[in-house]
This record gives sequence, C-alpha cells and structure tokens, in this order.
Amino acid sequence: MADLTTRYMGLSLRNPLIAGSSGLTSSIDNIVELEKAGAGAVVLKSLFEEQIAIEANASLKKAENNDLIYTGKSEALDYIDLKIREETLSGYLGLIREAKQRTVIPVIASINCVTSSDWITFATEVEKAGADALELNIAIMHADHEIGSEEVEARYFEIVSKVLSTVKNIPVAVKISPYFTNLAHMVIKLSETGIKGIVMFNRFYSPDIDINTLTEKSTGTLSNPSEAANVLRWMTILAGRTGCDLAASTGIHDGTAMIKQLLAGASAVQVVSSIYRNGIEVISSMTGDLEKYMEKNRYNYIDQLKGKLKRDENSNVAAFERIQFMKYFSEIV
Ligand SMILES: Cc1cc2nc3c(=O)[nH]c(=O)nc-3n(C[C@H](O)[C@H](O)[C@H](O)COP(=O)(O)O)c2cc1C
Repeated sequence: MADLTTRYMGLSLRNPLIAGSSGLTSSIDNIVELEKAGAGAVVLKSLFEEQIAIEANASLKKAENNDLIYTGKSEALDYIDLKIREETLSGYLGLIREAKQRTVIPVIASINCVTSSDWITFATEVEKAGADALELNIAIMHADHEIGSEEVEARYFEIVSKVLSTVKNIPVAVKISPYFTNLAHMVIKLSETGIKGIVMFNRFYSPDIDINTLTEKSTGTLSNPSEAANVLRWMTILAGRTGCDLAASTGIHDGTAMIKQLLAGASAVQVVSSIYRNGIEVISSMTGDLEKYMEKNRYNYIDQLKGKLKRDENSNVAAFERIQFMKYFSEIV
C-alpha cells in the first residue's frame, strides 16, 4: 500500500491535502469533520489584522473614557493588550486550543495582514495557544500607482522579519499573490528569510461587470479548475530552488490536479473551493485517487513523485517559456 504521509514545514502530515483557510475551518465542529473526512491538516480561517487594530483603538478609547491615567506607555499598552486578548483573540485562541484537544492533525493558524504594525505582538499568542504553525496571508493588492515595486516588496520582508523575531517555536508560512514584478526572485528571497513555507497563491476578489445594470460585481467567491494552471507554472519553475517548502493553492479541485502539483514540486496542496462545491467527501476521493495513482505507478512514498516534473535547476526558464509561447501560437493558423 502506498504511504501518503508527507512533511510540510517540518510538520508530519498523514497526506498532502490541507483544508485551506476559509469558513470551512472557522468552527470546531467543521474542523473535527474535516479530520474525519481525511484532511492532512487544516489552516484556520484568518484573523484579520484590522480586527486586532479596531479592537486596539476601541480599547484605547474606552480606557480614555474611563479616565484611565496613563503613567507610562507600557501601562497603556498592557491595558490594550489585555483588552484585545479578552475581546478579539480569545475566540480565536479558544478555537486553536479546542482544535488541538479534539483532533490530532496539524492545526495551522492564519493571520491576514498588510502591514507590520502592532498586531505582530499578538502572533505569539497563537503560538502559546498551541497552533502547530502560523500562516501569514500577506494580502496586499498592489494597486497603488504611487508606490514602486521595491517598496511593496520591502513591506513583505518587514512583516516576515518582525513576525520571525517574535514567533520562535513554530514554523511560519507566507501566503502570497502571484502579482510581483519578478515573482521568481521574490519567492526565492522570501524563502531564504527563515520562513518554512510559501503558499502559492492567495486568490483575490475577482471582478466582473454587469453591462445592463452598469455595476461592478464579482465573478464568484469560488475558484475554477482552470485557475490551477498558473500555480502549476510557478510550482514547476520554483520547486527545488527555494529555501523552504512550497504549498499549492487555487484551483485544485480533484485528485488529478493534486497529483500534478505534487509532481511539479509542491509539498502539500490546499483545497477550499472544491470542498465547498463538491462536499467534504471530495477529500477522501482526492486522497484515494492519489493512492491509486501511486500504486499504479509503483511509488511507495510521496517523495518518490514529489518534484519529478519540476524544471531542471540549470535550465533557462525564461528561454523555455518564450519558446513554448512561440510554439503555442504558431500551431494555430
Ligand atoms: C469562503 C472563503 C473564505 C476564505 N477565507 C480566507 C481566509 O480567511 N484567509 C485566507 O488566507 N484565505 C481565505 N480564503 C481563500 C482560500 O484559502 C484559498 O486561498 C482560495 O479560495 C483559493 O483556493 P481554492 O481554489 O481551493 O478555493 C477563503 C476562500 C473562500 C472561498
């Protein structure tokens, strides 16, 4: 029988299918069900940086209204810290603790952030609550024309460096978008910071326009299988070149799509839309397909197939892509 166990960020997973961050992982009942259904790990629904900031401001206002006299900055911060723990984080930390008590699969906490401000001190709480890892969803939509790419990229390194200086005992992963001037350079540099995983990619709100009502609308919250192609491109290009593990996310809807990402070099895949669309049973169907594929092709372990189709480290990726591009269009007359 094929052995589906694998390692991702130093964590041991019974199989490479991770239930990704979403409403599916926001309650203890769902997390227990995901484990029963066969998920290798779960990434909890993100706590948003803004939630922490809003609570911090609210607590500060309350403190001022209560005529709390600050004798020093540290007391004020202690007060804010305490309130945040009480009001915002307690639910999230409670979910981590309960998930750790009631399941055995790795529980990865998630924080959705865009800056390296005060929220970072709270990342340690996640660690103390028992999360096996922390995933930072750095969800910056690079749309400000007044900010250059270097400045945008610097923000990622600043966030990572601050988080790594506080979260010391659990692995940290970063979930990124594909929108960088030079994605390959960015991923490799990020992978060398001390993080243990990069999740490719975050999926942003996808816009559409209703031509009759002249309003902007969304193409839908859930992904389509065709969206996995871009992840596959970057997985084959980057696998074997990074200083940390890579996880694939977006458009992975069935067993075949998962196997492709593993062959491309992913250590694990994250699945969300397919579970919403096909139900929780899709997890065992996908891992079952992986097992059958491994048996048929005589792979005993995930490592024997992982990265088999990654690009040769010495290959000229840019030239290869250009040739494929030319061939692609010359075939159509
Ligand atoms: C309803 C819903 C809620 C989501 N919430 C989060 C979230 O809180 N944090 C996060 O990092 N990603 C969130 N995501 C994004 C998913 O984790 C994932 O990156 C994205 O859906 C692409 O993967 P998929 O094609 O398997 O759906 C959410 C996605 C959906 C559909």
